[in-house]
Amino acid sequence: MTSLGTPLTAHATRVLLLGSGELGKEVAIELMRLGVEVVAVDRYPDAPAMQVAHRSRVIDMLDAEALRAVVASEQPHLIVPEIEALATEVLVEVEAAGEATVIPTARAARLTMDREGIRTLAAEELGLPTSPFRFVDSLAGLESAVAELGTPCVVKPVMSSSGKGQSVVREPADASGAWDYALAGGRASGTRLIVEAFVEFDYEITQLTVRHAGGTTFLDPIGHVQADGDYRKSWQPQPMSDAAAARAREIAGQVTDALGGYGVFGVELFVRGDEVLFNEVSPRPHDTGLVTLASQRLSEFALHARAILGLPLPEHIETVPAASCAVLAEGNGVPIIGGIEQALAVPETDVRLFGKPRVDGRRRIAVTVARGESVEIACDRARAAAHALTVELA
Ligand SMILES: Nc1ncnc2c1ncn2[C@@H]1O[C@H](COP(=O)(O)OP(=O)(O)O)[C@@H](O)[C@H]1O
Ligand SMILES: [Mg+2]
Repeated sequence: MTSLGTPLTAHATRVLLLGSGELGKEVAIELMRLGVEVVAVDRYPDAPAMQVAHRSRVIDMLDAEALRAVVASEQPHLIVPEIEALATEVLVEVEAAGEATVIPTARAARLTMDREGIRTLAAEELGLPTSPFRFVDSLAGLESAVAELGTPCVVKPVMSSSGKGQSVVREPADASGAWDYALAGGRASGTRLIVEAFVEFDYEITQLTVRHAGGTTFLDPIGHVQADGDYRKSWQPQPMSDAAAARAREIAGQVTDALGGYGVFGVELFVRGDEVLFNEVSPRPHDTGLVTLASQRLSEFALHARAILGLPLPEHIETVPAASCAVLAEGNGVPIIGGIEQALAVPETDVRLFGKPRVDGRRRIAVTVARGESVEIACDRARAAAHALTVELA
């Protein structure tokens, strides 16, 4: 039996949210609804989730000492990562000492922090199908990997996300440019890269999978389009052959079972006919899953909150056709968003304005979500609503 205490008392159920962006904000809101005490952490003040949490802490989450100190002072029951770039060794220590439960597990956070950990688990230990790949540490190594794998191929720093440092090598002469680009874009100062054969997929999906006290629930597949390292639009359900849909759930079941723990996982898959290839997995709600704010009675964020608190979920979650469209801002300044009445005038449409305190470069600042009688209608509505929004940077 699960019982939940009262926030800000000695009987609180406390969650430390590591990463306070728009996905963390939705998770925080769902936890708040269940009377959970939420402490939001990020490296800058006034991050979206901090605006809806009980307290916030500003630290460099890659700094092990700083992370240890926050855990020691906040004494959370659950540590809930929202991002990959964390001092995951601290999560391993905290879990081993029984000080807090890491969602889904410290090992999952550690393995998915770099592409090598999760790819080695998926392809080598579990034998899941992936595109052929090599890890390299030098330009010479990259050149020979390109020769072995053939072109086109995709080069990604092992420590990176959101497409940073990622490029496509179309001919062998592109290798040195890809090397320089990857080194400039990686998270740590490391030089390790993954080189993958380019997959000519028919479409790619996120197979949201929830591990919870009652078992595993597979949500309907989410189709999405990526550009320049960011997801631009997503829709649910993505039409799939029965064979491909079953294979997607099978692969997602295997990789999430291997990672263990409770919570939502975003399993990214490439689909070609009935063939399904594993790309990567996030052991947390996925940005393409923002569509579930419209498509499901319980969004991926609500499902995550319930699952991590040890609550069982239904075996099947109903979906209505829906879509989401990301709204990006580029430049420098404080976002001011207009056109909201025009966006909301689009039928069956809603907006989420993240409340990001600043934009420096290119950032996602809002999303539109819409329902429709079909995913096509929903996509048109979400796009129309996004186009109606105007963004000024003050
Ligand atoms: N081997 C590949 N073949 C074709 N497209 C790829 C390949 N790897 C990545 N992509 C494209 O780039 C996107 C981002 O790559 P991904 O590995 O998911 O990195 P990130 O961690 O930045 O999300 C994918 O969603 C897909 O659209
Ligand atoms: Mg990805």
